[in-house]
Amino acid sequence: MLSGATGEGRDQVPRTSRSTAFGVDIGGSGIKGAVVDLEKGDLATERIKYLTPNPSSPRLVAEVVARLVEQAGWTGELGATFPAVIQHGVAKTAANVDKSWIGTDVDKVLTDSTHCDVTVLNDADAAGIAEARFGAAKDVDGVVILLTFGTGIGSALLLDGQLVPNTELGHLELDGHDAETKASSAAKDNEGLSYKHWAKRVQRYLRHVENLFTPDLFVVGGGVSRNAEKWVPLLELNTPVKPAQLLNNAGIVGAAMAAHEKFTE
Ligand code: BGC
Repeated sequence: MLSGATGEGRDQVPRTSRSTAFGVDIGGSGIKGAVVDLEKGDLATERIKYLTPNPSSPRLVAEVVARLVEQAGWTGELGATFPAVIQHGVAKTAANVDKSWIGTDVDKVLTDSTHCDVTVLNDADAAGIAEARFGAAKDVDGVVILLTFGTGIGSALLLDGQLVPNTELGHLELDGHDAETKASSAAKDNEGLSYKHWAKRVQRYLRHVENLFTPDLFVVGGGVSRNAEKWVPLLELNTPVKPAQLLNNAGIVGAAMAAHEKFTE
């Protein structure tokens, strides 16, 4: 939400008649952003990327986001994804980012640093709304569950294209473990698992989610969806599984959509 200055005078982005908003994807390893063409669901400018600072504290992350927005010359609507439960702009958890975010008003911190009209939402939720509008879940009615496999496992639950935010299905307890510690792509990398071995874990996890929700479609995203042919065909489920289509840009596009549609208000 916007309060205070509007950063007048630093708007260098050529405006067109097309509807645009800025999307920022804040992740555990990188912070990336671009102007998004909201009609096409695609980036309208080149993506700018910075490494996530260490520690990934509110002050340092807000500085990086401000630098990125300034470099793009953007003012106006800005959507940001965050890898945590976000309720009305406030982070309620911090599984894979600095714990000092818990209880932080992310919306306010980013509004203060960028002077933009900020909307913040969970990273997987952003990917979910982008895939529902422009990607693998476009025009799919019923229950769709998008799962992103990365440092953790993010989830987005959609009913007839409408999001139910903050489902956090990556933290389901399975065989005595927090599921994402075994089935995320970070677990694959850290334990040096082959796609075949890791797919067995994903299969077990998706079967569990399927038993709980009986979805009409699973969409699987995250960096590993680039190599979907290596593991998606190994899954045996009753629910169809489609790889995410927007890949790297789903978070940026979904964040910009949320900002434009005033998702949290
Ligand atoms: C967090 C989620 C996030 C997911 C993917 C999980 O550890 O709890 O909020 O969506 O990681 O980043």
